[in-house]
Amino acid sequence: MTNDIAIEVRGFSQFFGQVRKLKALDLDVRRNEIFGIIGPARSGKSTFLCALNRLNDLVRGSRHEGTIRIEERDIYETGVDVVALRRQLGMVFATPVPLPRSIFENVAFGARRAGIRGRARLDSLVRDSLEKGGLWEEVKDRLDTSGLKLSGGQQQRLCLARILAVAPEFILLDEPTSGLDPISTMKIEESLRRLKKEYTIVLVTNNTKQAARVADRTAFFLNGELVEVGPTAKIFTAPDDTRTDDYLRGRFG
Ligand SMILES: Nc1ncnc2c1ncn2[C@@H]1O[C@H](COP(=O)(O)OP(=O)(O)OP(=O)(O)O)[C@@H](O)[C@H]1O
Ligand SMILES: [Mg+2]
Repeated sequence: MTNDIAIEVRGFSQFFGQVRKLKALDLDVRRNEIFGIIGPARSGKSTFLCALNRLNDLVRGSRHEGTIRIEERDIYETGVDVVALRRQLGMVFATPVPLPRSIFENVAFGARRAGIRGRARLDSLVRDSLEKGGLWEEVKDRLDTSGLKLSGGQQQRLCLARILAVAPEFILLDEPTSGLDPISTMKIEESLRRLKKEYTIVLVTNNTKQAARVADRTAFFLNGELVEVGPTAKIFTAPDDTRTDDYLRGRFG
């Protein structure tokens, strides 16, 4: 494994019951890149993210074949600490789900559970995480108000800050801006561009233009298969597979 590969997926299939929903995927995610995943509904994008942090394990009757190595460790081998794995790969979902608590508590909650104590440490961690999430300036004077009072776009950045507070190495985002207006979307994209200096980011998006704007490399999924993966500019201007071209031209999906 060369040094810049953070996630190595080899022959990975995901089954739910008898049905194979991810089909022998082979791909690498490089350290400190934004790896975009595009594809129509039910192509397996979310299932792939949930394979990376083993959330699919929670589905009864699920099983897998093949391997996923994260920082050279096979994440499905026996003895892997799944709680630590999920902390290592923080996940942001399409719908922001703040806790019904203050802005401060939303960010401090996970950090406390991860064992961080002391007001001063928590204060600086909350500030740092909100800054990284691109929300600090908008909320610094009202950290005690409820997270639920924020706008949708602010809530999504709060959720981003919340996972940053538990010191992940990877950020997985599943259509994080699908419900947001263009300005909120732009703010999230700006945050991601900054964050890739410190983190490796996997971004599932149903908005192909978003992948074109922020992803360094992009993968196109269709029916649980990886059709192709490459530098984003190449995928968008000169894809190898006609199905990629058809999807990008809006011929299906
Ligand atoms: N927990 C589950 N149990 C059974 N089947 C599932 C489960 N989760 C996903 N699937 C199936 O796997 C396939 C891929 O779904 P997935 O949610 O990964 O697609 P997606 O690309 O994220 O789609 P969307 O763009 O709609 O979010 C679908 O056929 C879906 O029904
Ligand atoms: Mg999905």
